[in-house]
Amino acid sequence: MKFLIHTYGCQMNVRESEAVASLLVARGHERADEESEAELVIVNSCTVRQKAEEKAVGKAGNLIADGKIVGMMGCAVVRLKEELFRRLPKLDFAVGARAFDLIPDFVGKIASGEISRSSPVSSRFALGADRVPCGMHAHLPPQSQSAFVTVMIGCDNRCSYCIVPDTRGHEYSRPADEIVAEVAALAESDVREVTLLGQSVLRYRGFPQLLRRIAEISGIERIRFTSAHPKGCTDELVAVYRDCPKVCRHLHLPVQSGSDRLLAEMGRRYTRAEYLAAVKKLRDFDPHFAITTDVIVGYPGESEEDFEATRSLMEEAGFDNAFIFKYSPRPGTRSARLEDDVPKVEKERRDQVLLADQELRGQRRNDALVGTVREVMVEGPSKRNKSRFSGRDSGNRIVVWEDDGGTEIGSFVKVRITEAHPQILLGELVCS
Ligand code: 5AD
Ligand code: SF4
Repeated sequence: MKFLIHTYGCQMNVRESEAVASLLVARGHERADEESEAELVIVNSCTVRQKAEEKAVGKAGNLIADGKIVGMMGCAVVRLKEELFRRLPKLDFAVGARAFDLIPDFVGKIASGEISRSSPVSSRFALGADRVPCGMHAHLPPQSQSAFVTVMIGCDNRCSYCIVPDTRGHEYSRPADEIVAEVAALAESDVREVTLLGQSVLRYRGFPQLLRRIAEISGIERIRFTSAHPKGCTDELVAVYRDCPKVCRHLHLPVQSGSDRLLAEMGRRYTRAEYLAAVKKLRDFDPHFAITTDVIVGYPGESEEDFEATRSLMEEAGFDNAFIFKYSPRPGTRSARLEDDVPKVEKERRDQVLLADQELRGQRRNDALVGTVREVMVEGPSKRNKSRFSGRDSGNRIVVWEDDGGTEIGSFVKVRITEAHPQILLGELVCS
């Protein structure tokens, strides 16, 4: 069957879509290049905010109307459960976020006629709430220089606003030997960069040692990981940065708020001062260390004062980039019991204020890189201008340069930065 997968949400979903695609190819199905060619379309869904869930469910509905065979996977499936089939009665099948490895079986049963849209929902649905999916090793689209590797699944943090512990189940850490073996196998197939994934990877016991082991694998040139927590920014981690240049100088360190009162209510388990101390530790080590973040505006009871605290924290931290989210109550979470009392227009205003601040800050952070030489992993021709190539530096910053096309994808080049923008650096190749 020709299939396509639409992915919403985080990198975890991106990786699991890749895994499903490879499992389907292994069973003789074929990837479609475009939706029009696909007989089967799978929607990998997110439910972190209400809008994300609506997009995925809406997309699946449209595909059903277009006459496709449609399956859903991911977090929204776990939240909606059987309710999903009441909304989309013609949905062919759905599997929860920890049951993606069951998809080839469902597709096989549809192909053989064993199940169809008229079969009872129980035969078209697998929740798999606390399973550990088998086939957790990375599956790659051909010719990838970069791969995601799952280190932890699930989450036991229970931040007040977050639905992820409900959708992804209890925390499970993969054994270090299994992870190291997987990365070694990826290196054998010419992967140069790995991104270790987990809801909160720094909770992995012995994470610094794991990084050191991976850094020893020849062929692997870059190691990234996400997401991080300030409590994990220990001296031991900084020692790894010092000893292992392969470990990239970028951390995605979601802060959510700069107000101690709200941080406590959210159950984040750090204070503003502790968060800023973690940032300082990384920037003392390397002033160009890239730190990006997530922020929520309009959390229940967020006052003007709380908001201003977030604003000033962002300035003090000097974030290289920030994703701002308007609070969206998620059913079953602790904060859903609180009144969602910040008016929509006010959430919008706060969002815009933080975005405008970040635009200036991003420009300032990047201006400081003009004249420096960045080591860049080549990703390919730039999307906007084909005579340019683009790639990323260790800080995950997008770097673009003029190229005659002689540069190999996945290789490393040195680029001297000549021009800075808030989200992009332009430069010229340095002959080495
Ligand atoms: N409302 C708004 N944003 C949320 N996030 C998580 N839950 C919610 C919610 N209920 C944001 C957080 C998290 C990012 C992935 O999504 O900032 O870091
Ligand atoms: Fe969305 Fe969170 Fe699930 Fe990722 S883990 S898909 S961000 S709900």
